[in-house]
Amino acid sequence: MSDQVKYVLDEAQIPKAWYNLNADFPKPMPAVLHPGTHQPIGPSDLEPLFPMDLILQEVSTERYIEIPEPVRDVFRMWRPAPLIRARRLEKLLDTPAKIYFKYEGVSPAGSHKPNTAVPQAWYNKEAGIKRLSTETGAGQWGSSLAFAGSLFGIDVTVFQVRVSYDQKPYRRALMETYGARCVASPSNETEAGRAVLAKDPNSPGSLGMAISEAVEIAAKDPAVKYALGSVLNHVMLHQTIIGEETIRQFELANDDPDVVIGCAGGGSNFAGLCFPYLGLQLRGGRSRRFIAVEPAACPTLTRGKYAYDFGDTAHLTPLMKMHTLGSTFMPPGFHAGGLRYHGMGAMVSHAYELGLIEARSYQQRGCFEAGVQFARCEGIVPAPESTHAVRCAIDEALRCKAEGKAETIVFNLSGHGHFDMQAYINFFEGKLVDLDYDEAALAQSLAGLPSIAA
Ligand SMILES: Cc1ncc(COP(=O)(O)O)c(C=O)c1O
Repeated sequence: MSDQVKYVLDEAQIPKAWYNLNADFPKPMPAVLHPGTHQPIGPSDLEPLFPMDLILQEVSTERYIEIPEPVRDVFRMWRPAPLIRARRLEKLLDTPAKIYFKYEGVSPAGSHKPNTAVPQAWYNKEAGIKRLSTETGAGQWGSSLAFAGSLFGIDVTVFQVRVSYDQKPYRRALMETYGARCVASPSNETEAGRAVLAKDPNSPGSLGMAISEAVEIAAKDPAVKYALGSVLNHVMLHQTIIGEETIRQFELANDDPDVVIGCAGGGSNFAGLCFPYLGLQLRGGRSRRFIAVEPAACPTLTRGKYAYDFGDTAHLTPLMKMHTLGSTFMPPGFHAGGLRYHGMGAMVSHAYELGLIEARSYQQRGCFEAGVQFARCEGIVPAPESTHAVRCAIDEALRCKAEGKAETIVFNLSGHGHFDMQAYINFFEGKLVDLDYDEAALAQSLAGLPSIAA
């Protein structure tokens, strides 16, 4: 059918393995360092926080890692996710480009986050863990872990960044519906939270700070483990199910992407779509453009420094080499809460440093304009984070129009925005402003990066 819109796979075609880019990087990733000794850490250093199966995935260089059957069984609830040709958007833009999107909003929580929440909860359950602590920015990750916890009988405590807790009461209600306990961060429940509140009782919070609170809870109580929704290697690994499916779906479409796009907070949905394609390229396949899109108010790849830094504000995590704005950087309270993180996942940072991927940043109003344009022709209201990818896909399609090129573009529509309608209301009422970060605060935060002997 020449005018086909949806490319869907059968449940039996849910990938059986995750793809690990660490098997194909031309240069190995820099070691993760102990925060005290600055020496490379070993698996046992991470044991207070994670079950061993996940730690082994974190350090693995195996190309493919099998997806456990019980995890694939849960994935049958919504996977394979559809690949959709945005024909109406193409027509509206009058572009010769072909635009496709992989739609991850079909998951129960409404985004790509359950792709890693489910395996993380399952590996914890297998290790006998009954309680997990985590943080959430947009509320998407907290909802996803709450959902996964409810499937496997695990109690979940979620530290939700204050600004998002206030902006998104329905996300909180969703987490509670799945049985999780939700706490606004910074909170009085941890030393890290109390220290911040003492200095600024009205702190809007940040992902880095909420991570400190969740890590502290797990580090102090052997019965509790910690789960992270992005940034870490094993999260990137779990998300590659997105790209693995997409490769098969493009075979059905008899097409092949030239440009692959994802928004990037910690980097996991971008990595999930891109890494399987990047792997093909590194093993001798054709080259493509990979574009990570970040908010101009939190421009980790485009303005950050590639340096060792902590993953959290209170400096409880190991040191990772990544693109960072400094762990004390406090991004302004813009609406794409899931992109308000000071660092970028080490794998995405490494790929950027090796020149394998591109990055660009956008202000939020242009992103919402793109989100509305997309909703009006394709029907789906994108999450504020995902509007960054939509903006970039539209800009690339317009470039193709200007250059008269019929390129194939695919982007990850990482989630729907049904819980983010207040942001759209603000946009329609003209209340959404483009926010710039404070240059002096960024300089100060970067000056405070830990100094590590080369
Ligand atoms: C819908 C959506 N997209 C993207 C992100 C950014 O995370 P990542 O860069 O890990 O995909 C989030 C984070 O909460 C999200 O909720």
